[in-house]
Amino acid sequence: MHLSIPTSINYLTGHIDAENVVCKETALGALKGVFADESQRAKGAQDQVVYKVEMLPPQQKEGELNFGVSHIEPGSIGDEFHMTRGHIHQRKEQAEFYFGSQGEGLLLMQTEKGEVSIERVFPGSVHHIPGFVAHRLINTGNTRLSALAVWPAVAGHNYDFLDEVGFKIRIFKSSTTYKVVYMDKFD
Ligand SMILES: [Fe+2]
Repeated sequence: MHLSIPTSINYLTGHIDAENVVCKETALGALKGVFADESQRAKGAQDQVVYKVEMLPPQQKEGELNFGVSHIEPGSIGDEFHMTRGHIHQRKEQAEFYFGSQGEGLLLMQTEKGEVSIERVFPGSVHHIPGFVAHRLINTGNTRLSALAVWPAVAGHNYDFLDEVGFKIRIFKSSTTYKVVYMDKFD
Protein backbone atom coordinates (compact mmCIF):
# COMPACT_ATOMS: atom_id res chain seq x y z
CA MET A 1 0.00 0.00 0.00
CA HIS A 2 1.20 3.48 -0.84
CA LEU A 3 0.02 6.52 1.06
CA SER A 4 0.30 9.73 -0.95
CA ILE A 5 -0.56 13.34 -0.26
CA PRO A 6 -3.23 14.47 -2.70
CA THR A 7 -3.75 17.86 -4.25
CA SER A 8 -5.45 20.25 -1.84
CA ILE A 9 -7.41 23.44 -2.09
CA ASN A 10 -7.86 26.31 0.29
CA TYR A 11 -11.62 26.53 0.67
CA LEU A 12 -11.39 30.12 1.89
CA THR A 13 -9.60 31.41 -1.20
CA GLY A 14 -10.34 28.67 -3.72
CA HIS A 15 -6.62 28.42 -4.43
CA ILE A 16 -5.51 24.98 -5.68
CA ASP A 17 -2.26 23.85 -4.11
CA ALA A 18 -0.68 21.69 -6.79
CA GLU A 19 2.43 21.98 -8.97
CA ASN A 20 0.62 21.16 -12.19
CA VAL A 21 -2.11 23.80 -11.96
CA VAL A 22 -2.99 25.38 -15.30
CA CYS A 23 -3.88 29.08 -15.05
CA LYS A 24 -5.64 31.16 -17.67
CA GLU A 25 -6.18 34.88 -17.23
CA THR A 26 -8.78 36.86 -19.14
CA ALA A 27 -8.01 40.56 -19.45
CA LEU A 28 -10.28 43.42 -20.44
CA GLY A 29 -8.76 43.42 -23.93
CA ALA A 30 -10.15 39.93 -24.59
CA LEU A 31 -13.70 40.86 -23.66
CA LYS A 32 -14.69 43.00 -26.63
CA GLY A 33 -18.45 43.17 -26.99
CA VAL A 34 -19.12 41.27 -23.77
CA PHE A 35 -20.18 44.23 -21.65
CA ALA A 36 -23.12 46.51 -22.48
CA ASP A 37 -20.95 49.64 -22.67
CA GLU A 38 -18.29 48.70 -25.22
CA SER A 39 -16.82 52.23 -25.26
CA GLN A 40 -16.11 52.03 -21.52
CA ARG A 41 -14.51 48.62 -21.95
CA ALA A 42 -12.32 49.95 -24.77
CA LYS A 43 -11.21 52.91 -22.63
CA GLY A 44 -10.00 50.76 -19.73
CA ALA A 45 -6.54 49.26 -19.27
CA GLN A 46 -6.65 46.38 -21.73
CA ASP A 47 -4.21 44.29 -19.70
CA GLN A 48 -6.34 44.50 -16.56
CA VAL A 49 -7.27 40.98 -15.48
CA VAL A 50 -11.05 40.67 -15.07
CA TYR A 51 -11.05 36.97 -14.19
CA LYS A 52 -8.83 33.96 -14.16
CA VAL A 53 -9.30 30.22 -13.99
CA GLU A 54 -6.93 27.81 -12.30
CA MET A 55 -7.52 24.15 -12.99
CA LEU A 56 -5.94 20.76 -12.77
CA PRO A 57 -4.55 19.56 -16.12
CA PRO A 58 -7.55 19.09 -18.42
CA GLN A 59 -8.74 15.56 -18.99
CA GLN A 60 -9.83 14.37 -22.43
CA LYS A 61 -11.55 11.04 -22.10
CA GLU A 62 -15.28 10.39 -22.13
CA GLY A 63 -16.34 9.81 -18.54
CA GLU A 64 -13.50 11.86 -17.02
CA LEU A 65 -14.03 15.01 -14.95
CA ASN A 66 -12.28 18.37 -14.79
CA PHE A 67 -11.78 20.49 -11.71
CA GLY A 68 -11.08 24.21 -11.62
CA VAL A 69 -11.67 27.48 -9.81
CA SER A 70 -12.86 30.75 -11.33
CA HIS A 71 -11.76 33.99 -9.69
CA ILE A 72 -13.59 37.14 -10.76
CA GLU A 73 -12.01 40.41 -9.61
CA PRO A 74 -14.31 43.08 -8.16
CA GLY A 75 -15.18 46.04 -10.33
CA SER A 76 -17.42 47.18 -13.11
CA ILE A 77 -17.41 48.38 -16.71
CA GLY A 78 -19.53 51.49 -16.47
CA ASP A 79 -22.10 50.28 -13.97
CA GLU A 80 -22.06 46.66 -15.12
CA PHE A 81 -20.34 44.30 -12.71
CA HIS A 82 -17.31 42.27 -13.71
CA MET A 83 -18.33 38.85 -15.00
CA THR A 84 -17.12 35.91 -17.00
CA ARG A 85 -17.73 35.75 -20.73
CA GLY A 86 -20.16 32.91 -20.10
CA HIS A 87 -20.77 29.86 -22.26
CA ILE A 88 -22.91 26.90 -23.03
CA HIS A 89 -21.18 23.56 -23.34
CA GLN A 90 -20.13 22.36 -26.78
CA ARG A 91 -21.85 19.14 -25.85
CA LYS A 92 -24.89 20.93 -24.59
CA GLU A 93 -26.31 18.00 -22.66
CA GLN A 94 -23.33 17.99 -20.27
CA ALA A 95 -24.00 19.38 -16.78
CA GLU A 96 -21.69 21.03 -14.23
CA PHE A 97 -21.43 21.86 -10.54
CA TYR A 98 -20.23 25.18 -9.10
CA PHE A 99 -19.41 25.74 -5.42
CA GLY A 100 -19.08 29.25 -3.98
CA SER A 101 -15.75 29.72 -2.19
CA GLN A 102 -15.22 33.40 -1.39
CA GLY A 103 -16.89 36.71 -2.09
CA GLU A 104 -20.42 37.25 -3.26
CA GLY A 105 -22.01 37.23 -6.64
CA LEU A 106 -24.55 35.69 -8.93
CA LEU A 107 -24.72 32.72 -11.21
CA LEU A 108 -26.75 33.56 -14.30
CA MET A 109 -28.29 30.63 -16.13
CA GLN A 110 -30.31 30.63 -19.34
CA THR A 111 -32.01 27.69 -21.01
CA GLU A 112 -32.17 27.26 -24.77
CA LYS A 113 -35.78 28.43 -24.63
CA GLY A 114 -34.53 31.67 -23.09
CA GLU A 115 -35.72 31.05 -19.55
CA VAL A 116 -33.42 32.96 -17.22
CA SER A 117 -32.61 32.30 -13.58
CA ILE A 118 -30.08 33.69 -11.14
CA GLU A 119 -28.68 32.12 -7.98
CA ARG A 120 -26.79 33.89 -5.22
CA VAL A 121 -23.18 32.72 -4.98
CA PHE A 122 -21.59 32.86 -1.53
CA PRO A 123 -19.05 30.84 0.48
CA GLY A 124 -20.53 27.35 0.66
CA SER A 125 -23.21 27.77 -2.00
CA VAL A 126 -23.81 24.77 -4.28
CA HIS A 127 -25.03 25.20 -7.84
CA HIS A 128 -26.18 22.50 -10.22
CA ILE A 129 -26.04 23.68 -13.81
CA PRO A 130 -28.09 21.25 -15.89
CA GLY A 131 -27.30 20.40 -19.49
CA PHE A 132 -28.58 22.74 -22.23
CA VAL A 133 -28.10 25.76 -19.94
CA ALA A 134 -25.73 28.67 -20.62
CA HIS A 135 -23.97 30.04 -17.53
CA ARG A 136 -22.01 33.08 -16.39
CA LEU A 137 -20.58 34.24 -13.03
CA ILE A 138 -20.98 37.85 -11.92
CA ASN A 139 -19.11 39.50 -9.06
CA THR A 140 -21.54 41.83 -7.27
CA GLY A 141 -19.29 42.33 -4.24
CA ASN A 142 -16.30 44.47 -3.32
CA THR A 143 -13.90 41.55 -3.05
CA ARG A 144 -12.78 38.72 -5.31
CA LEU A 145 -15.48 36.15 -6.15
CA SER A 146 -14.19 32.59 -6.34
CA ALA A 147 -16.14 29.48 -7.25
CA LEU A 148 -14.99 25.89 -7.64
CA ALA A 149 -16.27 23.95 -10.62
CA VAL A 150 -16.48 20.29 -11.61
CA TRP A 151 -17.46 19.48 -15.19
CA PRO A 152 -17.26 16.56 -17.61
CA ALA A 153 -14.04 16.45 -19.63
CA VAL A 154 -16.00 16.12 -22.88
CA ALA A 155 -18.30 19.09 -22.19
CA GLY A 156 -16.23 21.71 -24.04
CA HIS A 157 -17.03 25.43 -24.24
CA ASN A 158 -19.14 27.17 -26.84
CA TYR A 159 -18.63 30.94 -26.74
CA ASP A 160 -20.44 31.55 -30.06
CA PHE A 161 -23.57 31.32 -27.97
CA LEU A 162 -22.87 34.93 -26.98
CA ASP A 163 -23.04 36.24 -30.55
CA GLU A 164 -25.83 33.97 -31.68
CA VAL A 165 -28.18 34.23 -28.72
CA GLY A 166 -26.61 36.07 -25.81
CA PHE A 167 -27.81 36.46 -22.25
CA LYS A 168 -31.17 38.15 -21.83
CA ILE A 169 -30.28 39.99 -18.66
CA ARG A 170 -27.38 42.03 -17.34
CA ILE A 171 -26.50 42.94 -13.77
CA PHE A 172 -25.73 46.56 -12.93
CA LYS A 173 -24.81 48.42 -9.76
CA SER A 174 -27.66 50.00 -7.87
CA SER A 175 -27.73 52.31 -4.87
CA THR A 176 -28.14 49.30 -2.58
CA THR A 177 -26.75 46.14 -4.22
CA TYR A 178 -27.54 45.32 -7.83
CA LYS A 179 -30.30 45.59 -10.37
CA VAL A 180 -31.34 43.18 -13.09
CA VAL A 181 -31.82 44.73 -16.51
CA TYR A 182 -33.46 42.97 -19.46
CA MET A 183 -31.74 43.65 -22.76
CA ASP A 184 -33.68 45.58 -25.42
CA LYS A 185 -33.04 43.16 -28.25
CA PHE A 186 -35.21 40.59 -26.50
CA ASP A 187 -38.19 42.91 -26.06
FE1 LIG B 1 -19.43 25.32 -17.99
